[in-house]
Amino acid sequence: MSFPNHRPRRLRTTPAMRRLTAENRLAPADLILPAFIREGISEPSPITSMPGVVQHTTDSLKRAAAEAVELGIGGIMLFGVPAVRDARGTASLDPDGVLNQGIRDIRAEVGDDLVIMSDLCLDEFTDHGHCGVLDADGYVDNDATLEIYGQMGVAQAEAGAHIVGPSGMMDGQVAVIRQALEDAGHKNTAILAYAAKYASPFYGPFREAVDSQLTGDRRTYQMDSANRREAILEVELDLEEGADMVMVKPAMSYLDILADVAGMSPVPVSAYQVSGEYAMIEAAAANGWIDRRGAIMESVLSIKRAGANTVLTYWAAELAGWLKES
Ligand code: PBG
Repeated sequence: MSFPNHRPRRLRTTPAMRRLTAENRLAPADLILPAFIREGISEPSPITSMPGVVQHTTDSLKRAAAEAVELGIGGIMLFGVPAVRDARGTASLDPDGVLNQGIRDIRAEVGDDLVIMSDLCLDEFTDHGHCGVLDADGYVDNDATLEIYGQMGVAQAEAGAHIVGPSGMMDGQVAVIRQALEDAGHKNTAILAYAAKYASPFYGPFREAVDSQLTGDRRTYQMDSANRREAILEVELDLEEGADMVMVKPAMSYLDILADVAGMSPVPVSAYQVSGEYAMIEAAAANGWIDRRGAIMESVLSIKRAGANTVLTYWAAELAGWLKES
């Protein structure tokens, strides 16, 4: 078949024509802002490898959440950076611990005007930096970890999270958290499952952001970057276990996975543009090597085009501001 009269450039002639024919567009409500709250600081603390991103104090976090509401952002994903860590990450269960208190503070600030999500994982809280507790051989013990995850889910729901985000890649985590939430009466607390989460060097700057104690890697629980089919299995398992939303992470190096998941998922799909993706563009832009705003816009739009309904991005606030002005 040939189309002798088709000249695709016709639809590219003016900005208005390109706007009319754009197949995808971004809106502030598509964006989720990841944010860090750190215990025991009196001023926001910059993260060197993520220029423009800080570890928040309670006050600056509340301001960021209020600003997110103003900007019409879809949600905020909260990570806690505790002052004290131990082998079992017990600070994660303390109702007054940094993450649970942070959830409570922003819920008091924004109520239901912004969807409050919390990272449900032990790596920020353990003194060895792994996402779970270790057995005698130093291997991450799946089922012992699940027990703590269930309790964490309840603690976060009680603090006011609308959605909990299990990111530890333990087998069966969604089922255990769902059951714990039901047993505690939190039937409307939703689960955003980090379903297809790959072991990736692109998490590098995040390790600084949460003062991670990890030496080594997470390859015995996070997925191998060689694998594509396995992502479908992970998503299917999480759906069976009760995931309300699923996530692919990182985003840019996994757009094929994202497209696969978007094609089969009956629930909303998120993708996480991770710290290393942020750092690369910021570093190149700081050197004058790429157009910062153009690269940010294109990188996030490409994630949406690949099939994400929502995108977690450290640029959420700035990007929402641009989208509002255009
Ligand atoms: C685990 C978690 C990590 C990230 C989000 N949740 C770190 C990891 O898995 O090593 C990384 C996010 C990013 O790099 O921006 N709690």
